[in-house]
Amino acid sequence: MSDKPVLWLPRRVSDATIERARRDYDLVLNEADTPGTSNEIIAMSAQVDAMMPCHSEQFSAEVVSQLYPRLKIVANHSVGVDHCDLAALAAKGIAVTNTPDVLSDATAELAMLLLLGAARHTVQGDRLMRTGTWDSWSPSFMVGKQVTGARLGIVGMGRVGRAFAAKARGFDMEIHYFNRNRLPPDQEHGAIYHESIDTLLPVADFLSLHCPATPETLDLMNAERLAALPNGAILVNSARGALVDEDALVHAIENGKLSAAGLDCFKTEPGGNPKFAAYENIFMLPHIGSATTKTRDAMGFRALDNLDAFFAGKTPRDLL
Ligand code: DGY
Repeated sequence: MSDKPVLWLPRRVSDATIERARRDYDLVLNEADTPGTSNEIIAMSAQVDAMMPCHSEQFSAEVVSQLYPRLKIVANHSVGVDHCDLAALAAKGIAVTNTPDVLSDATAELAMLLLLGAARHTVQGDRLMRTGTWDSWSPSFMVGKQVTGARLGIVGMGRVGRAFAAKARGFDMEIHYFNRNRLPPDQEHGAIYHESIDTLLPVADFLSLHCPATPETLDLMNAERLAALPNGAILVNSARGALVDEDALVHAIENGKLSAAGLDCFKTEPGGNPKFAAYENIFMLPHIGSATTKTRDAMGFRALDNLDAFFAGKTPRDLL
């Protein structure tokens, strides 16, 4: 029997990650690639030293309370850790890591796609072309909202928020942001800081969310905050579905407060919100912010780096 630590991969991560994991660990891979259920997570914790879950595996307090002592580390293959009850895991003495930095550009790229797609009637245009129903053109046909030079509000200026701001500067957007702490001047690049989200919202013709899902940010964009945006604003969410009150969003789309929205994250995943499908000015993608080959390899390798450090008796770089 090998003396390598036993690692469970509940999902089929990138081939390069699996190859490296197979080399350095006794790998237990869920070839079926189905989300790990609570029962599977609990049962596996009796058989493995480490797990590399994605945000699809839920480590609730109830699940964590039933984990077996063999499990030493949960090395997440995600930057977001809202699927983990960190306090419960810490109380059990289980180390937890995530994968920051490596997915910031891919996620920021996708946020820009959402912003552009929402601004320029992409869903409607795509439908006309695919159904062969593009039968007229006029100067008032599919007129959207110009991005270049527009005012952009960013909520959360962490790594992804800053990467998104860098992309938005390429469109000469006037960038305003709200963050718990003001960035050092060399990281602001002229972005205007708001101490409160309340002063940010009225100037945000486009608003992009880049903060984590926590109990404090649940339904951050509720009816009141959506109403505080300029008329015809566009909301972009590539962070987490929990940040948006989805009924309030539908209402804001219906009454024209929002001219459009671009969403990659939903309260219910997979599946999304069936109410949204009726509105072509909601441009939607299925949680694929970090889904590029380069980034998925980098996420897997970063999670493995964390595991390697842990089992070498060192502090993993991304220990939470
Ligand atoms: C993350 O890393 O948090 C992304 O949402 C993908 O899981």
